[in-house]
Amino acid sequence: MCGIVGYVGKQNAVSIILEGLKRLEYRGYDSAGVCVQQGRRLDVAKKAGRVENLAKVAAKHRFTATTGIGHTRWATHGGVTDANAHPHVSSDGKFALIHNGVIENYAQMKTFLAGKGFAFQSETDTEVLCNLIAYHYAKEPARAKGRNRFLESVRKTLRHVEGTYGIAVLCTDFPGEIVGARKASPLILGVGDGEYILASDASALVSRTQNVVYLKDGELAHLTPKGFSLSTLDQADVSPVVDRITWSIADSELGSHAHFMEKEIFEQPAALENAMRGRFSADGSTAQFGGLNISAGEFREMERFMFCACGTAWHACLVTEHLIERFARVPVEVDYASEFRYRNSPLDPRTLFFVMSQSGETIDTLAALREAKRKGYRVMAVNNVVGSSIAREADGGIYQHAGPEVGVASTKAFTSQLLIGAMIALYVARMRDMSFSDGVEYVNALKGAPDLVRQMLKQAPRIKAIAKRYAHYHDMLFLGRLSLFPLALEGALKLKEISYLHAEGYPAAEMKHGPIALISEKCPSVFFAPKGEIFSKIVSSMQEIKARKGPIIAIATAGAELPPGLADDVILMPECHEAVLPIIASIPVQLLSYYIALERGCDVDKPRNLAKSVTVE
Ligand code: G6P
Repeated sequence: MCGIVGYVGKQNAVSIILEGLKRLEYRGYDSAGVCVQQGRRLDVAKKAGRVENLAKVAAKHRFTATTGIGHTRWATHGGVTDANAHPHVSSDGKFALIHNGVIENYAQMKTFLAGKGFAFQSETDTEVLCNLIAYHYAKEPARAKGRNRFLESVRKTLRHVEGTYGIAVLCTDFPGEIVGARKASPLILGVGDGEYILASDASALVSRTQNVVYLKDGELAHLTPKGFSLSTLDQADVSPVVDRITWSIADSELGSHAHFMEKEIFEQPAALENAMRGRFSADGSTAQFGGLNISAGEFREMERFMFCACGTAWHACLVTEHLIERFARVPVEVDYASEFRYRNSPLDPRTLFFVMSQSGETIDTLAALREAKRKGYRVMAVNNVVGSSIAREADGGIYQHAGPEVGVASTKAFTSQLLIGAMIALYVARMRDMSFSDGVEYVNALKGAPDLVRQMLKQAPRIKAIAKRYAHYHDMLFLGRLSLFPLALEGALKLKEISYLHAEGYPAAEMKHGPIALISEKCPSVFFAPKGEIFSKIVSSMQEIKARKGPIIAIATAGAELPPGLADDVILMPECHEAVLPIIASIPVQLLSYYIALERGCDVDKPRNLAKSVTVE
């Protein structure tokens, strides 16, 4: 939540910052602002609303400074107003600050500072932090002797702070310098040609450099026109490790697509191929993972798996649970990361812990990982963003290699998580009872998944036409069983997220225990009806809905014998292996929700109140 950018270099800072903010807008879009430093002057422009509003305001100022900071906000403390937009300036006018995170002890500090004569223009915790820096700067100049007084006052302030932060700060007495720091909120430093860029993630700086330093929790970065240094809250110097980003700006461009969500839906065949590349054994009967940092023997000893995640990634964990239990016969538990971190659930010592996260920055998932490690468990991460906090703190992991996902509603990252979950199930199953030939069949099925997804994507125009007929409803049910029950949850979530239509996901048979009361001609149901042992049970549930005049969209396997006239609309899926079915079934629900949202005139890439990467609790 919230995106931050800071620039020190020779170019016009505002244009670089605005470009970065546009790319970070998925992190929040309640308001945006910039502050540039011209000599000893700080100039601020900020505005409620999107970055494009800010760009119009900033254009009028004709800023030419080469140092500046910028922010796109997802509101936590204080409403969506110009005054609450970042950057915030200290009441003595010396400091400007942008912040991603939550300062938990801000109220107490605000009272303290108010008593010292500091005045506040906003309701934010960030303004308190900015004034606290000003307070320390004014109070203890002597302590910083021999060191940079600006850097030391930020450091001192952060030692008093409880909560989370990624920040960038300017000071009038230090033209051309920025101090940045992080704790739990992401912050990376781009090392360019005579320029340095601080940002919440690589998308904001990859157009200028692919060389980055990932800051660790509790580290500060001090940027000057001549270079940068890193240090810790305890004043220890840190040697920077410069990594190279492997993707380029073209990967996060919209291209010919109308929305990132559409682009990412259509990128799924390639994302699946990337997730599989090099990950099957030479004999083609099992999966192999390079980064687990745990031997096959140790893996074999595990008697239970625990998966934690949030949002769509949690749905991917539920599918993975089904596949591991079905094919490997090992018990799996899945929990919301936000619940696990406070639940103190008893775990078997021979449990292998997994977290799944596209961004690798979701604060609850990161906290669950830390809690599991604190309890002595080895934690593996399934994660898309290379170098993310989760990737760095996990004991081992599997990168998704899905490429940057920009649309707030996760699509290609979801199906690549489903695929990796299916590969984990295969890996465990082949260590246990799955035969060589069943392994080969499973691997071949996974290899064929991208083509089946291509087939499903060809139905987009038909699904668009169906979506038009259902876009005016206010409620919708998604019903599925077994591995497609999580898909029912995902379908309902997608629809809620981007079209603001009320939807619920339920196990199809459980519908009788409550949701059926909602059914009338005004509440359609989307049924997953794959061929298989419980097909007839699903048909019975559909009959129950039909008897109550509920419209039905069936997502059914081609060749399944649906009674004629039972479903009002049918979307067909090719017949496929059980491990591939959830991937294939994802496509119609993604397309359905995308086209319904378009029909309702919603901003699919930036749905209201949401942010892609949730870095606050
Ligand atoms: C947010 C996003 C979801 C995503 C969830 C978990 O809620 O809107 O699309 O599934 O966070 O994100 P992660 O990056 O941990 O997968």
